[in-house]
Amino acid sequence: MINHHNGLPASRRKGRTDPCGVTTKSAVARCIRDTADGGLAEVAIAVAEDWQHHGLGELLIRVLARSAWDAGIRCWNATLFTNNNAMRKLLELVGEKQSEQSEDAGVVGLVYRLFLPSLARAEGHPGQRSQRVETGN
Ligand SMILES: CC(C)(COP(=O)(O)OP(=O)(O)OC[C@H]1O[C@@H](n2cnc3c(N)ncnc32)[C@H](O)[C@@H]1OP(=O)(O)O)[C@@H](O)C(=O)NCCC(=O)NCCS
Repeated sequence: MINHHNGLPASRRKGRTDPCGVTTKSAVARCIRDTADGGLAEVAIAVAEDWQHHGLGELLIRVLARSAWDAGIRCWNATLFTNNNAMRKLLELVGEKQSEQSEDAGVVGLVYRLFLPSLARAEGHPGQRSQRVETGN
C-alpha cells in the first residue's frame, strides 16, 4: 500500500474539510492503493479556497500521477460531486475516463486510466495545459 501526501505550506487560516473528508491548510493530494488491486488507487485533491484557480490543483495532480505511475498504479478512482467540473478537468489532464457511476446524493464515482507520464507534462508550468501522452500499457 502506498500513501502519497504532497503537503504544501499551511496557510494561516483554519483547516477545512472537503466533501471527500480531506482536511486542508493550503492543499493536499493523496493517492491510496487499493488493497485488492495493486494497479488501482483512490485519488483525492483539495485546495483551500484562497489558493484555488492558481494552478495548484493541476500541479498536484501531475506530480501525483507521475508518482502513482512510478509505483505501478495504472488506474485510479475518484469520488466527487457530479457537477465538480474543476476536478473532472484535472483528472482529464492525466488520464482517460474508463467509467462513471452515479452514487448517492449527487455523488459520482469515476475510474480513470492514467496516461504514461512524460517529463514535459510532469514539469509543465502550473496553469498550463501541456500535451498528453497516451499509452497502451
Ligand atoms: C478541484 C480543485 C482541487 C481544483 O484546484 P485548483 O487549484 O483550483 O485547480 P487549478 O487552479 O489547477 O485549475 C482550476 C482552474 O483554474 C485555472 N487556472 C490555473 N492557473 C491559473 C492562474 N494562474 N490564474 C487563474 N486561473 C488559473 C485553470 O485553468 C482552471 O480553470 P478551468 O477550470 O476553467 O480550466 C479545487 O477546486 C478543490 O479543492 N475543490 C474542493 C475539493 C474537491 O472537490 N476535490 C475533488 C474531489 S476529491
